[in-house]
Amino acid sequence: MGVKKAEEIEKIKKAGRICKKILLEIANSLKEGMSTIEIAKLAEYLMEKEKVKSAFYGYRGYPGVICISINEEVVHGIPSEKIIKAGDIVSLDVGVVKDGYIGDCAISCGIGNIPKEKQKLIDVTKMALEIGISTARAGSRTGDIGWAIQSYVEKNGFSVVRDFAGHGVGKYLHEEPDVPNFGRPGKGYLLKENMVIAIEPMVNMGRPDLKILSDGWTVVTADGLPSAHFEETVVITNNGCEILTLIDG
Ligand code: MF3
Ligand code: CO
Repeated sequence: MGVKKAEEIEKIKKAGRICKKILLEIANSLKEGMSTIEIAKLAEYLMEKEKVKSAFYGYRGYPGVICISINEEVVHGIPSEKIIKAGDIVSLDVGVVKDGYIGDCAISCGIGNIPKEKQKLIDVTKMALEIGISTARAGSRTGDIGWAIQSYVEKNGFSVVRDFAGHGVGKYLHEEPDVPNFGRPGKGYLLKENMVIAIEPMVNMGRPDLKILSDGWTVVTADGLPSAHFEETVVITNNGCEILTLIDG
């Protein structure tokens, strides 16, 4: 029922730390002119170096080692010949398996000078994640997290994606419960001590509606406006939660 043993949490934390280390190394190497396949090659190299496997490669047939989603791409962008350029929002999503357990985290980065509204979208999404995290504790419900995220995002004039959600994390990438980025206070799944969940707001500058590209994976906004995504894996405690995808946590 989602509650993990102490040894399991330790393992998810080990995976989570490596996951964030790799994610930040990739983020720090982003330069305009790089193709997304080059970025994925770097991810592959770092995963080998850290002796971890991609949690995404082969998952339901996903063909990449990480997800790289640019501008109107919301999530699940497949590494390709596409070139990143100044002014882009590049969302990086990394999941790794270490010793049978998974860590999952994501950030969105602005490349070079980016337009003010795009920077605001990144900042609001990052803050929405922090607000979601600060709402998570034993006794709260997934609807409390969703409501906190949704109301903050909408107050800032943006919209939350409804068709994809956060999720439990453990031996598998997607476990119970679903952790939507919208909801109502007091509704949804009851969180208990030692549950491990990934909270991952996906925020659109325009409407929440989505389309899936013909590659079967890439999720894009229907209106073509940009989107941002941040994610951390956390363990629920009695007075809050602890982020497991932290380098020095
Ligand atoms: N972090 C994303 C998620 O939790 C990445 C999944 S990509 C997939 O849904 F390829 F593995 F599906
Ligand atoms: Co996730």
